[in-house]
Amino acid sequence: MNAAQKIGASLDRVLTMELVRVTERAAVAAARLRGRGDEKAADQVAVDAMRKELNHLAIKGTVVIGEGERDEAPMLYIGEEVGTGKGPSVDIALDPLEGTTICAKNLPNALAVVALAEKGSLLNAPDVYMDKIAIGPGYPEGTIDIDASPAENIASLAKAKGVTIGEITTCILDRPRHAKLIEAVRATGAAIRLIGDGDVAGVIHTTDPEETGIDLYLGTGGAPEGVLAAAALRCTGGQMQGRLILDTPEKVARAAKMGISDPKKVYRTDEMARGDVLFAATGVTDGNMLQGVKFGRNYITTHTIVLRSSSRTVREIKARHQDLDKF
Ligand code: FBP
Repeated sequence: MNAAQKIGASLDRVLTMELVRVTERAAVAAARLRGRGDEKAADQVAVDAMRKELNHLAIKGTVVIGEGERDEAPMLYIGEEVGTGKGPSVDIALDPLEGTTICAKNLPNALAVVALAEKGSLLNAPDVYMDKIAIGPGYPEGTIDIDASPAENIASLAKAKGVTIGEITTCILDRPRHAKLIEAVRATGAAIRLIGDGDVAGVIHTTDPEETGIDLYLGTGGAPEGVLAAAALRCTGGQMQGRLILDTPEKVARAAKMGISDPKKVYRTDEMARGDVLFAATGVTDGNMLQGVKFGRNYITTHTIVLRSSSRTVREIKARHQDLDKF
């Protein structure tokens, strides 16, 4: 088996560590603009830093989930080729700053995020909303169902976890569109954690309820963020279902152009992120799972989670960077 075939069968382990650098650099860049009230500037520096680092990777990468369509995003747009061009052909989903408003306000859980998968294995989701439901690993298949009511899903999860409904916490984006959902969850007696932004973190938090206090994610958020979260769940285990909200003919047509023929399809985790997947996220601001970037006197510290589907390894990397010229 030659090197290329080996990489095709299972993404090179070395890439896992290389990916850490990609999110570290983006997170540090964004962290310099934490709390400055300027979402755009924070996003731009994160994009620049992530792109620069991605272009050092020995991959022939194509951005499939990125900063937007080519005409609206000059960098890391959908279809942009990244990497040195010498290495495996891979799909890349990224969000150099997930939670731009969180970062601008210096609130918890802003992340720099990237996922890498074998070519053709990430869902090419248009930038529309997606209805999402997610739980962490260890529950029987079928514990949740996107078409069941919140009460049914919460009861089923409580039973599978062996706790009372009152001991389940659901994470939901705090949006007017979720008023009915919030009411329905509260009526069950379960707790809710309302988040202002950042549902990639919200979904990932279900994978470690002891640490994060979140058992279930429910609600509507960005479809690109849905694919990123699914990539993480592919690596950790856990169940996620998502349905694109294609509620206008224009959105249906846009999705069709990206290869989506059934606008009502429910995507399961491994339909959003198939094959071998690598995922990395570095904290920009302090959060429930990851600490934010810290600027020391002669060093910078970062906290990253890096995941690999083929081995299901979950690594946490706390790095102290002393070669500050690189940042
Ligand atoms: P940005 O980082 O692009 O600002 O996205 C933040 C976010 O909260 C996502 O996590 C979420 O999927 C989406 O926005 C929700 O969209 P909306 O703010 O329109 O409800």
